[in-house]
Amino acid sequence: MPKLGVNIDHVATLRQARGGMEPDPLEAALMCEKAGCDSIVAHLREDRRHINDKDVIGLRKRIKTKFNLEMSMNPEIVDIALKIGPDQITLVPERRQELTTEGGLSVVRYEKKLFRIAASFNNKGIDVSVFIDPDKSEIRSAIYIGIGIIEIHTGNYSLALDKKSRAKEFKKIKDSAEYAMSKGLIVNAGHGLNYTNVKQIANIKGINELNIGHSIISKAVFAGLKNAVTEMKKLIN
Ligand code: PXP
Repeated sequence: MPKLGVNIDHVATLRQARGGMEPDPLEAALMCEKAGCDSIVAHLREDRRHINDKDVIGLRKRIKTKFNLEMSMNPEIVDIALKIGPDQITLVPERRQELTTEGGLSVVRYEKKLFRIAASFNNKGIDVSVFIDPDKSEIRSAIYIGIGIIEIHTGNYSLALDKKSRAKEFKKIKDSAEYAMSKGLIVNAGHGLNYTNVKQIANIKGINELNIGHSIISKAVFAGLKNAVTEMKKLIN
């Protein structure tokens, strides 16, 4: 059974909308752990648009499962991550203008840089994963530079509008996952997974972990709204 990593960036996005203290992503992370998730994912972006440095320190202190810090190759972020020491980092591409991570990191293009960064984390006992498109040349490059974990980008599969294109995107993910597993890599997947499309990906034999954020936090709004209104009404009365 694949494990579940919950991405809590979206809770921090809501907090930032008011610039105050709530909702607190750390409280959300602890609740996700209580509910049985296997890891917590947070992306410390260069522009700190949601998760900030204080969040990351708090998460490191309090998370009991696995803390997977998503990050770019930016030297400032690399330094912070090395100091904080998450259990795992997941390297992603990052553009300031994007709303969310838009695609996989090109390991082929940044082989040398990634090799150096991965070595600095591995030397501290921190696992390194790369978020990549379902593409065998990227997998071969990851193997070449000694990266043992990949996260396959499921965004195009999630966004596919019709059955035919979804099947095509699914095949790319399945073939890539099986290829990577046959070469001994740990294979995770994520981006855009939701309550209707997750099963097919979870059924890929041997897949280790699925990282999901937006759909879980969206669902949580409606799962909790009734109680929130009832409690407020009680106080007013
Ligand atoms: N994995 C990676 C590498 C991501 O960048 C994201 C989005 O931050 C996710 C998983 C989760 O994606 P979503 O919020 O669409 O579930």
